[in-house]
Amino acid sequence: MEDTRSLKQAAGGRFLMGVGTSPKVLANPLDAALVKRHFQILTPDNCMKPQSVQPAEGKWNFNAADTFANFARNHDLQLAGHALVWAKDDRTSPWMKEENGAPVSRETLLKRIETHVTTVAKRYADVATHWDVVNEAVADQGQNFLRDSVYSRTTGIDFAVTAFKAARAADPDALLVYNDYSDHKPAKRANIVAFLKELKRLGAPVDAYGMQGHFQIGEDPIEEMRNTFTAMRELGLKVVVSELDIDVIPRDRWWAEGGKYREEVSRINPYPDGISAELQQQLAAKYVELFKLFVENSDVIERVSFWNVCDEESWLNVFPWKRVNHPLLFDRQRNPKPAFDAVYKLLAASEG
Ligand code: XIL
Repeated sequence: MEDTRSLKQAAGGRFLMGVGTSPKVLANPLDAALVKRHFQILTPDNCMKPQSVQPAEGKWNFNAADTFANFARNHDLQLAGHALVWAKDDRTSPWMKEENGAPVSRETLLKRIETHVTTVAKRYADVATHWDVVNEAVADQGQNFLRDSVYSRTTGIDFAVTAFKAARAADPDALLVYNDYSDHKPAKRANIVAFLKELKRLGAPVDAYGMQGHFQIGEDPIEEMRNTFTAMRELGLKVVVSELDIDVIPRDRWWAEGGKYREEVSRINPYPDGISAELQQQLAAKYVELFKLFVENSDVIERVSFWNVCDEESWLNVFPWKRVNHPLLFDRQRNPKPAFDAVYKLLAASEG
């Protein structure tokens, strides 16, 4: 019998269901069918990033991003644009950081940001309903809440204010998001909250916090996530869960002690042929806990998006080292996993 279960139908009016993916995946009929059946809103996982669309100053490359946006337009789906500014040096092209062989001036950098944001946000304003305006601008810990980057070194927080104002002007009715990771860690959350407060104080039109939601098996983030939802409610912000996945091969040791275990860690690949029924159940239970929390907080949650469609596509097969991963609701054959069954059941059983 044909499987007619649909995640977006089961979520009902509580929040939009979405997924981050690429034009290449959308060109595969099996993936396209899954996307259309389960999701209302698509995030381009790489093709709309600054380095992809403006590889050199004033040299625009919209081919892939246009293909992606056209899929959404043609199938009556929404677009969550990602990302207008990715505030990390290693995600920023050299041209953006320099001016006549010297570090870029404040004035030029703000102008470049305004041009970039305006050009991209206007081009997709008809189909984009959400924008990740600024991505990962906050420090993981420490006194200064801004991550060190060309953006913060050159402008303080003003780069973000400029980006949000330009996005609002270019696409006035879109939900404007500040997107980041690890808000379930108290030190990081404190910095994120400080950043958002300051943005609001300075008049930046920020509407929502984007909780990336890259989790790992063995981690228990639920109680701390409640604190994030409470903090955002207090700030008068909405939340989008923007990049949900659960790594079944914990990865923290990759960064531990200055990366000294990397050689050893890079050989870890425990599940090349699939995961056991027991691990499938563990993954399902983790997803159910998360979705229960999302349902409880659906007054502030606008959207829940997975990061990639099926296990084969997941970025966690290569980041931060190569391994066969199983973090999503659909397996390599595009079949629903026990985690899908469990999440669907929860959503369908609760009031939609
Ligand atoms: C990742 C993509 O999934 C990878 O394909 C790419 O190599 C690196 O970026 N936070 C974000 C996303 O905001 O843009 C990242 O996406 C994952 C972490």
